[in-house]
Amino acid sequence: MTHAGYIHGFSDSERRRLIAQAQLLAQPVFGGLDFSGDRSLLEVGCAVGAELHLIAQRAPQLSLTGLDLSATHLRAGHAWLNRAERIRLVQGDARTLPFADDSFDVTLTIWVLEHLRDPAAVVGELLRVVKPTGRVILTEVDNRTFCFDPTQPAISAWWDAFNRCQAELGGGDPCIGGKLRHIVSALGAEVLAAEPRRVISSADTSRARAAQLRYLRELLASGAERMLVHGYATLEMQHAMEAAFTAVQARREVAFRYGAVRLICQKPAA
Ligand SMILES: C[S@@+](CC[C@H](N)C(=O)[O-])C[C@H]1O[C@@H](n2cnc3c(N)ncnc32)[C@H](O)[C@@H]1O
Repeated sequence: MTHAGYIHGFSDSERRRLIAQAQLLAQPVFGGLDFSGDRSLLEVGCAVGAELHLIAQRAPQLSLTGLDLSATHLRAGHAWLNRAERIRLVQGDARTLPFADDSFDVTLTIWVLEHLRDPAAVVGELLRVVKPTGRVILTEVDNRTFCFDPTQPAISAWWDAFNRCQAELGGGDPCIGGKLRHIVSALGAEVLAAEPRRVISSADTSRARAAQLRYLRELLASGAERMLVHGYATLEMQHAMEAAFTAVQARREVAFRYGAVRLICQKPAA
């Protein structure tokens, strides 16, 4: 990823979107995970620390470290995070982690590998710095799962352009979730679990339909600046997409879903 081509950007509204996203998606991201036996955790691509904030609440015994390439996001994280949580934020590149081998009980990425040109190199680094008894946890989207039923053409058109912009400009793979097992196996790691996670679903009554639609709308809108500047979309497309979300909000018969994959693996035996 070149940071100039990063689809979501680093604005203040992106900071707010990431914090709201972490709250709304806490169940698909963290549901079923048990950190009670762990002492140290590294999140690579932590942005403003929204996920680390939630992990600190779930597992206060953990020593938490977050790493990100973006100084802007890390500054926002320092300003926002509670000092009492004692989260260490480090600027660095996921491809060459500034940590010794076998340093952490848990290393993880959440919504990061989709933005990278060489996700396998980053997974290799996560495996290097995790302890032999530790776990690497990868939670990543598969954008092919995003759908509305019946199809909403203005939303589909925007989503297609969003994915093209992300892949071509940023160099990432928006469907990386479906490829995690292959990447991890090629590195010789042992897969402990790999499961689809329901990121957003109109069938999920534990989260309000309006909140889930607002999330999707903000996700799609987060790409607008780069999509418009680089000719992937027009203002007319953006207005049509926004109007379609407003219409869907009032039509409860319209179903929607969006999924990810969570893979847990262990370092290859020495
Ligand atoms: C969508 S955000 C994910 C944020 C966070 N995991 C969360 O769920 O709130 C992706 C993050 O990956 C970071 N990133 C992208 N490439 C990176 C790299 N090579 N090294 C470190 N961080 C990187 C971006 O700066 C951005 O903050």
